[in-house]
Amino acid sequence: NKGKYEHYMQKEIHEQPESLRTTMRGRLIRGGSSKGKTVLLGGLKDHLKTIRRSRRIVFIGCGTSYNAALASRPIVEELSGIPVTLEIASDLIDRQGPIYREDTAVFVSQSGETADTLLALEYALENGALCVGITNTVGSAIARNTHCGVHINAGCEIGVASTKAYTSQIVVMAMVALAIGADTISNQARREAIVDGLIDLPNKLKDVLKLDEEMKDLAKLLVSEQSLLVFGRGYNYATTLEGALKVKEVALMHSEGILAGEMKHGPLALVDENLPIFVIATRDACFSKQQSVIQQLHARKGRLLVMCTEGDAESVSVGGTCRVVEVPRVEDCLQPVINIVPLQLLAYHLTVLRGYNVDQPRNLAKSVTTQ
Ligand code: UD1
Ligand code: M6R
Repeated sequence: NKGKYEHYMQKEIHEQPESLRTTMRGRLIRGGSSKGKTVLLGGLKDHLKTIRRSRRIVFIGCGTSYNAALASRPIVEELSGIPVTLEIASDLIDRQGPIYREDTAVFVSQSGETADTLLALEYALENGALCVGITNTVGSAIARNTHCGVHINAGCEIGVASTKAYTSQIVVMAMVALAIGADTISNQARREAIVDGLIDLPNKLKDVLKLDEEMKDLAKLLVSEQSLLVFGRGYNYATTLEGALKVKEVALMHSEGILAGEMKHGPLALVDENLPIFVIATRDACFSKQQSVIQQLHARKGRLLVMCTEGDAESVSVGGTCRVVEVPRVEDCLQPVINIVPLQLLAYHLTVLRGYNVDQPRNLAKSVTTQ
């Protein structure tokens, strides 16, 4: 049931304040010794010791689920102190890449039925790794065949383009990072700030959804373009890949997410006065680097659209020459949850304006159960 919405993708984008609340429900609890809140993940609590002892955490997934793991890697590394690597499931299988008994392998999948991810799970089980699932579907193959895991509880997702599952996956992985790091005193203040950030995140998501009309206007501006580049780095490198994936899979427009640190190693050659470039430059430790990226793209007459933190328009728009989208600020590691929303809205409106099928893009299936 689409309720007041025209498409499931639209409904699922707008549902995100609520889906994030259900993802966190009952999992942020008052801590034992400290008075602050802490995380309780019922499905992981008996396995945390083993996870903390592992030599490496390897996230495995496809498409949007892989991007969610990429968005979460920095905070998992920071709070766990364990090296984190990422694998696209099909590529791990193609390479028969090394997976060891000392590894924790985390399988991220909305459907829990993706063939490539399941094959990778079988492979990791054979190699003796601790296998953890992060899935939206209770009773799915991944939920059943992993040793333990966390259900993201985002509610049923019907649109082929994954939206609310992505934001809930990032929130769950941030909670996993908090749970793994919960035995260290040194990062306690950081952990408490993230818990507070999580509690407030649904409200901030509601705020960012107010950009709907603005993103529709932007879609009108871009509707006839051939291509859209998205530049970002750090916590928001994943946002570039996921934003570009949304634009290509539903709006059927070429789009590419680019790590801004790689700009001079090739992509800069594409820049001219015609190709639209979306630059993500919200506040975090990389902000000044992104300001300098904007300057350099501007110097090459790039056609820039900039996403920045509320109140920062002047610091990013190079004398008012770029179009700016301002988003609410949240804790740095949670910012990807907010920043993807304008891009989801942009992809949605581009699709409607271009007259393509929103919920069932050509050639795609919601659940990819064949290789
Ligand atoms: C569980 C209940 C929830 C209840 C809560 C109350 C289920 C599905 N969940 O939630 O209804 O409100 O207790 O305490 O009954 N698992 C995997 N692989 C996965 C995902 C999960 O093995 O990919 C396992 C977990 O290790 C766990 C079980 O499935 O044993 C349920 O996981 P989850 O729903 O995340 O646990 P809770 O949040 O505790
Ligand atoms: O169900 P899964 O999360 O395992 O699905 C993985 C990908 O097939 C999926 O995320 C796909 O990329 C989406 N259509 C993206 O919107």
